Amino acid sequence: MSHDGGLNRRAFLKNAGMTALVGATGTGTSLATAAASATFAPAGSKYDFDTVYNRVGTDCVKWDQQIRTYGKENIAVGMGIADMDFRAAPCITRALQERMKHENWGYMDTPRSYVDAIVDWNKRRYGLEINPDSVVLSNGVHPGIIAALKTFSPPGSKVLLMTPVYDGFYSDLDFCQVKAEESLMKRVDGRYSIDFTDLERRISHDTNTLILCNPQNPTGNCWSAEDLTRIGEMCLRRRVVVLADEIHCDFVTRGNKYTPFASLPDKAIVRNSITFKAASKSFSLAAMKSAWFFSDNMDYVARVKANNHVDLSTLGMIANRAALTEGEEWLDQVVSYLDGNHDFVVSFVKDNIPLVKCVKAQGTYLTWLDVTGVIDKIGAKQQAAAEARKPGEKPETPETIVQRYFVKSAKVHMAPGSNYGYGGAGHMRMNVATSRKTLELALSNLATALKTT
Ligand SMILES: Cc1ncc(COP(=O)(O)O)c(C=O)c1O
Repeated sequence: MSHDGGLNRRAFLKNAGMTALVGATGTGTSLATAAASATFAPAGSKYDFDTVYNRVGTDCVKWDQQIRTYGKENIAVGMGIADMDFRAAPCITRALQERMKHENWGYMDTPRSYVDAIVDWNKRRYGLEINPDSVVLSNGVHPGIIAALKTFSPPGSKVLLMTPVYDGFYSDLDFCQVKAEESLMKRVDGRYSIDFTDLERRISHDTNTLILCNPQNPTGNCWSAEDLTRIGEMCLRRRVVVLADEIHCDFVTRGNKYTPFASLPDKAIVRNSITFKAASKSFSLAAMKSAWFFSDNMDYVARVKANNHVDLSTLGMIANRAALTEGEEWLDQVVSYLDGNHDFVVSFVKDNIPLVKCVKAQGTYLTWLDVTGVIDKIGAKQQAAAEARKPGEKPETPETIVQRYFVKSAKVHMAPGSNYGYGGAGHMRMNVATSRKTLELALSNLATALKTT
């Protein structure tokens, strides 16, 4: 594609091969048909999230990586990696354009105004009082978590996880040569809760850290103050440091609440934790490589900081600072739009895709689909067992078979549940942070494919 970000729908159809996509799925709703639908933005919206924004050809993981993996003829709607398809908040583009006028990119002295923006944002949005001296910048949440693991969890020791959980944690653990101790969450009617008895039972002399994900990727749980306090009390008593990853905190659906771990009233519990955050999910700035962590415990901060190597880029800092200082209205509107997407998915799946089940997420822009019916229908267990893999390659699972089936038959790409550890089997993770038209197209194609398989 051209690198003109403002491609229209026709160009999107052509460049992204969506016309082929629609043709290949027979009666699936076409993007063109879907595009004729009404606007889906909540009343009073100032920003356009409905217009399909073509990302193909920008070397993005969500779309281009799938084309590289599956080939051009199999271009699929990207619903895997967790970033958003929307045009960036105008305040971000404005700030970047302004800085681009000065054509020198030498070393940057990170300005104090960036840390101030982080502190102000957390105070304004979540009522958190963060000591600016405790804020440590990092190149992402992963580098921060890795620095904390290197600090508290020596190689060979165990890290407590509540599963199914974000697959990236497993890579961090591998990198630090530590082992996952997985506590399976309870699941009743598609809703997850923590099995506290199991969680505590899994702590042993060599369990030094617990990684908490709030809101939880992939299940979408927003943990209550009561849940967090129970985790915090247990970890304090058993000398396990809480690493609270709250990167998804801005995405909370109607009627639900994000409770920051650092806001718990028991200060001893809070002092036994480090919180990891970023604006990268909220404003889709993942490739701008900027995040931060903080703690009320300055001893923890100093120790983790010593293991954290950070090198921000000028453009990353500019984009993130603009988001935090001027982007709140845009964010509120995108969150509201995605709340509508979540509702749409739940009702569409219920009405049209009987082989799939899901409940509305409390937080994140992810939907955790129960695909056990699909696994049975396409014989994915048998196929996975029959697939030979070369040594060193990840084994095929029923969920990776479903992933491939969805790409080939429905032109939709999602993440296989088996990536998310113990308890991920039988599921796929679908990212709904896209225009309603794209979402509608993907779901229609899934419905059609499953009907005709
Ligand atoms: C829970 C969680 N933590 C961390 C990350 C990635 O963080 P970063 O890109 O800042 O390293 C993701 C991305 O999907 C995530 O879902």
